[in-house]
Amino acid sequence: MKRLLTGLQPSGDLTLGSLIGGIKQSVAYQNEYDSFIFVPDLHAITVPQDPTLLKMRIKKNVALYLACGIDPEKNTIYLQSENLYHTNLSWILECHTYMGEANRMTQFKDKSKNRENVSVGLFTYPILMAADILLYDADFVPVGIDQKQHVELARDIALRFNNKYGDTFTMPEPLIPKVGAKIMDLQHPTKKMSKSDEDVKGILFLLDEEEVLRKKIMAAVTDSDNKVYYDVEAKPGISNLLTIYSCLSNMEMKEVEEKFKDSNYGNLKKEVADLVVETFTNIQKKYQEYMSSGIVDEVLNQGKMKVQEIAKQRFEEVTKKLGLGRY
Ligand code: TYM
Repeated sequence: MKRLLTGLQPSGDLTLGSLIGGIKQSVAYQNEYDSFIFVPDLHAITVPQDPTLLKMRIKKNVALYLACGIDPEKNTIYLQSENLYHTNLSWILECHTYMGEANRMTQFKDKSKNRENVSVGLFTYPILMAADILLYDADFVPVGIDQKQHVELARDIALRFNNKYGDTFTMPEPLIPKVGAKIMDLQHPTKKMSKSDEDVKGILFLLDEEEVLRKKIMAAVTDSDNKVYYDVEAKPGISNLLTIYSCLSNMEMKEVEEKFKDSNYGNLKKEVADLVVETFTNIQKKYQEYMSSGIVDEVLNQGKMKVQEIAKQRFEEVTKKLGLGRY
């Protein structure tokens, strides 16, 4: 059975973008593939974090995975920092990554812009992500478009390693959603909706209350043309709302355009808000149940045991090939 693997950083509360780019695809494929989903908490500390908030977000992430439909019977769910082989392998992969490759990562350029005291960890984090993926022989990695370049880096490193030391790593393939690969900020529709942005007016958090969700959607930036159709270049705000509707209704974009072709912007926003509220309210109900039960710890304990065993074998194979360890 092919393996699928993904993770969502606990660097901020999860958003509609996290749901569509990361979680929804994993849910869709969980019956077909051996599915792994983890909390990359080591990635979160590439930028400053409040330790209390981080700890809480780790639990919230897992409860939200489950509430969004990740089935613990069909998925291996685990916490990155509980398996030190991720960082061990990352170091080895760093030694097989060229500066030129790491320098090309656009996420680093975006994230380090306007930030003081940028950490080395933020620069090398795509290599830790490669370790997350290669450690478990993942065939498929469901991600939004912003993470595609990182999965490609993992492929390049895997290929280089395999050519040098013999067949070791599986070549991972990114799975990018056809619609919704990049959900945009409602206030700045040419910019990605990002969970770690300080200005939250354009971000739909999975745990936002109904009133807040409606307010943010009704205030979404559009244009003055008052015609509803999909054109990312000319109408980024409207196209983003149509994309959100298409993703959450599972309707094709053509159908969505047809549905709203005679609507005004107010109606479109109201219908998008209704659908977002309905989706999020269902998630929130389940989330509350998972947070107050012991299931989060249960699944993390099970996942930890399983992945440590897999990772140990893979890591020992790698160190042996490199000539590391006792003679
Ligand atoms: P992260 O935590 O920034 O985002 C989690 C997932 O959500 C997707 N995503 C979006 N998709 C569409 N529109 C958006 N606005 C949007 N915002 C976020 C991201 O593409 C991602 O799929 N480095 C990763 C986490 C990670 C990982 C891994 C993922 C660490 N190791 C191994 C896969 C495999 C990250 O920072 O994603």
